[in-house]
Amino acid sequence: MTRTLADLDWPVRTAHLELRPGTSEDAEAVWPWHRLPEVQKWTTTLNTTLADHQRWWDAMLPSCVVGLQDGTIVAAGKLERQDAWSQADMRAQAAGQQAEIGWVLDPAVQGRGLGTEFAAALRDLAFDGFGVRRIEASCFAENLASRRVMEKIGLRLEGVFLEESLHRSGRWLDGASYAMLARERGAQR
Ligand SMILES: CC(C)(COP(=O)(O)OP(=O)(O)OC[C@H]1O[C@@H](n2cnc3c(N)ncnc32)[C@H](O)[C@@H]1OP(=O)(O)O)[C@@H](O)C(=O)NCCC(=O)NCCS
Repeated sequence: MTRTLADLDWPVRTAHLELRPGTSEDAEAVWPWHRLPEVQKWTTTLNTTLADHQRWWDAMLPSCVVGLQDGTIVAAGKLERQDAWSQADMRAQAAGQQAEIGWVLDPAVQGRGLGTEFAAALRDLAFDGFGVRRIEASCFAENLASRRVMEKIGLRLEGVFLEESLHRSGRWLDGASYAMLARERGAQR
């Protein structure tokens, strides 16, 4: 059986955070910081109304994990199980074999190691909870904080793609892709 977020053991506790799947009610709780342009500078979607944010959040729920500190949500992340590319006759075997992870943190708590702690927990949930063989994360190449987080949790730079992405500033920016195989994680331990 392919496990989903609902099948994992929650909550997950790290040194400073408690992780659980996001709920529809969380949309309003994170809105005060999630909506900030500095938080969404490098992300896909900048919602400008709570109604748009709620619709967007609800659509993300199947892959949404939140991180709480002292009962307050300070981190929102993506843990999405995905099918690996395969030849057509191998699709069943490739289904659900990898996961994509991503994160945003409340600016009030950034710069204290919590982004790395949250990202590491998503990595561990992907490998230990889902049992995937590969995880991936990508960002605008100029997003140095996120790239640093990827490096700190052991992901390996696989490629920088020149001017592949149009940023809302109107600039065509490079993209950066990182990944880690389950066996690489084993070797790092
Ligand atoms: C990326 C993000 C989650 C990091 O959260 P955080 O709690 O600040 O992360 P940490 O404190 O664990 O570590 C951040 C690392 O990035 C480094 N960093 C931060 N800003 C940087 C910058 N402008 N240039 C280079 N490195 C930077 C920090 O020095 C630290 O590395 P270090 O421990 O080696 O010194 C946070 O900045 C964020 O939410 N950004 C906005 C949303 C976003 O961009 N999400 C990712 C989309 S792909």
